[in-house]
Parts: sequence; structure tokens; C-alpha cells
Amino acid sequence: MTPAQFKVAPVAADRLPELLKSMPKAELHMHIEGSLEPELIFALAQRNGIEIPYSSVEELRGAYAFTNLQSFLGIYYAGASVLITEQDFYDMAMAYLRKAAADNVVHTEMFFDPQTHTARGVSMETVVNGLHRACVDAQAELGVSALLILCFLRHLSEEEAFETLEQALPLRDKFIGIGLDSGEVGNPPEKFARVFARCRELGFHLVAHAGEEGPPEYVWTALDVLKVERVDHGVRSSRDALLMQRLAKDRIPLTVCPLSNLKLCVFPDLASHNLRELLDAGLVATVNSDDPAYFGGYMNENFMQTFAATGLDAQHAYTLARNSFEASFIDASAKVHYVDLLNERFERFR
Ligand code: ADE
Ligand code: ZN
Repeated sequence: MTPAQFKVAPVAADRLPELLKSMPKAELHMHIEGSLEPELIFALAQRNGIEIPYSSVEELRGAYAFTNLQSFLGIYYAGASVLITEQDFYDMAMAYLRKAAADNVVHTEMFFDPQTHTARGVSMETVVNGLHRACVDAQAELGVSALLILCFLRHLSEEEAFETLEQALPLRDKFIGIGLDSGEVGNPPEKFARVFARCRELGFHLVAHAGEEGPPEYVWTALDVLKVERVDHGVRSSRDALLMQRLAKDRIPLTVCPLSNLKLCVFPDLASHNLRELLDAGLVATVNSDDPAYFGGYMNENFMQTFAATGLDAQHAYTLARNSFEASFIDASAKVHYVDLLNERFERFR
């Protein structure tokens, strides 16, 4: 796709939230386990007879005060421990997909972390079948198209990633891509060079978290060693001018997650976020929610809070929504369809 050409008429600041909320958009960076709201954690814990070390929803929510990625991951993996049955995975995904539909997300690509579950004795089939059934029902019931991306946990070994791939291959028709997440610093992309090469031979789409807390070098190796098609986060790229040129020239999308970056202290406040700088440099940046139940907001909340804090305008809104479709893994005709819907929304917005 070519860069966005559409000239957007100015929109008054007090009407911008309405446009942000109502425009069709794609979400490309969200961890389905990060959509588990405290209420659902408690309901699933009760359903499955699992003890959790919090006495109430309020107490659990009160524990969501993070200082960096690692301080979040512990509570995130603990929350996921209430997921046992296929129905649990289905219920979690449907709850997110309903929220996505309400935010006018028309297409979503959801990450899942199978190793978090297989390590507890939950089978790969249970995880993938529950999530995939929700994707099928979301299309039929909500009109949201939903795809799955399997992530390897980068704090574990490459050998364990290979084992996970083997377990998942019988279900390969139910997910479209491979990603890399969990603690970034000290676990560079090149640690997973061979398993990503194998996934590439198998025809999967490839993405990786890089440049969230880690240095620009990790973005370079995600591109040049893993050969990813998109970079998740990538906000630290702005520290390297040559890397910025490369990302712009090759139109490598960045799936940026502003509220996540705020809650994990990647930026001191939203006003200091570098989303505008990434867009001004011509990068294919997108807005996403990452772990919305933990970071204080789903898609529209990310758009509204970021625009309010940074002064982005309607032209930026159009570019971000259009980028989300360009950067997605849907086919060319579906991209044209969604961009037509987007253009129509902007033409009619008065
Ligand atoms: N897993 C869930 N959220 C993550 C994030 N923001 N970075 C890395 N791994 C994650
Ligand atoms: Zn993420």
C-alpha cells in the first residue's frame, strides 16, 4: 500500500474524541492474556477452584502499579493461571472481542503465550481451540475479523520454543503468525534465530517485540536476523537515525502501545510519548492496547488519551487508522475494503 494521501478536513478539538471512537481501525498488538479483567480472573478462579492471593477485585486492581516490564510480567503470568479449560480461553477471548467491537475495531490480530499454559499442564489443543472458536464466533456474531499469533517467551530457551512449535504444528491452520514477547533486556532477538528461520520456512508471518525497553540494536536484529515483518513497540528506534531511515524506507510497521508505555514507565508521561516523532519521520506507526486490562484502557482509550496529551489531530487519526490496515496480515482486497470504510467515515464526519 502507498502512504496515506487522503487530505482530512480540520476537526474541532471538542469533536475529535467522537471521530477517534467511531473510525474503523485494526488492532495488531494485544496479548489476549492481558485482556483478563480482575472480575473475570475471580470468576474463573472460582469456577476452577483455584486460590489467588488477593481477597477482592479491588485489591487485585490495586496491585497494578508497575515500575517496568518485569514488575508487570509477574502479576500478568499469575493472572493467567486461572485459565484451565477450552471454555475459559473462549470466554476470555470473547470478552475482549466484544470490547474491540464496541471500539470499532473491525480487525484484530491477537497474541497468545502457549508456554504460560502448557507449563501448568494445560494442553496446546485446549488453548488454541478455545481461542480459535472465539475468532470464528466473533466474525459471525460481532462482525469482527480476528486472527491469532503464537508468541514464544523470550526468557525461556530456543530449545523450548522449538518444542512449543512442534506441539502447535498440528493446529497450524488456526494461527497465522509467530511473535516473541516477555522480558526483553538480556534476551535479544538473535537468541531465537534458528526457530524463527524454521517458522519462516513454514510460511508463518513473523513479528517480535523489540525496542520496548531494549536498545535499537534489538530492532536491527529483529529485522536482519529474525526477518520480522512488523516490530512490536519499537519506540526506542528514535534513538538511532539510521534505523529510523531503514524503518521508513522499508515501510516496516511499528505497533505502538501508548498506555502500556506510560504504565511501564517507558515514558514519564503521555505528553512525552514519541508517537508524533515516529509519524513525522514517515514510519508506519499504529496505536494498540497491549494488555488493556492491566494498563487502563482498550483501543479507544489509547487513542483518546494519547491525542489529548500530545495534540495530535484528525489527519494523524486518519494516518494511524490507515496504517493499522496497511500493517495487518489480511489480504489486499480486505485492506481495500477497510480503507474504503475509513474514507467513508472521514468524508461523512461533519
Ligand atoms: N507480554 C505481555 N505484554 C508484554 C509486553 N508489553 N512486553 C513484552 N511481553 C509482554
Ligand atoms: Zn506486547
